[in-house]
Amino acid sequence: MDKRELTAFALEARENSYSPYSSFKVGAALLAENGKVYCGCNIENAAYSPTNCAERTAFFTAIADGARGFEAIAVVGGKDEIDSFCLPCGMCRQVMSEFCDKNFRIYTYDGEEIRTYTLGELLPESFKL
Ligand code: THU
Repeated sequence: MDKRELTAFALEARENSYSPYSSFKVGAALLAENGKVYCGCNIENAAYSPTNCAERTAFFTAIADGARGFEAIAVVGGKDEIDSFCLPCGMCRQVMSEFCDKNFRIYTYDGEEIRTYTLGELLPESFKL
């Protein structure tokens, strides 16, 4: 599974975004070491705080399915068209650090180009017990 295929899954997952408050639709596709792709979208809430990001939806779905090792996640986000890079928020980076090492890859797409980051780049010196 390459970065283009994973991004295509993220674009499909974005279609299910429930985002009536921000109108910002995000999709994520998480590639696990078991070979499965776990998809997620952002799910908003009238009380705002209970909102779940697309990345955490994908991770929690994977964990609940019994997956543990992960290779990469593709993230896409935007109001209408995808025209800028959407990067995981701090809370999602922390969730990634619970289950992934510093070489875990994060792909983000602006409608033209896919950029690749590692978790080590996006969350250096992360908190761990
Ligand atoms: N959001 C995500 O789903 N992932 C991110 O990485 C950043 C933000 C969602 C949360 C909220 O539903 C909307 O985008 C606007 O913040």
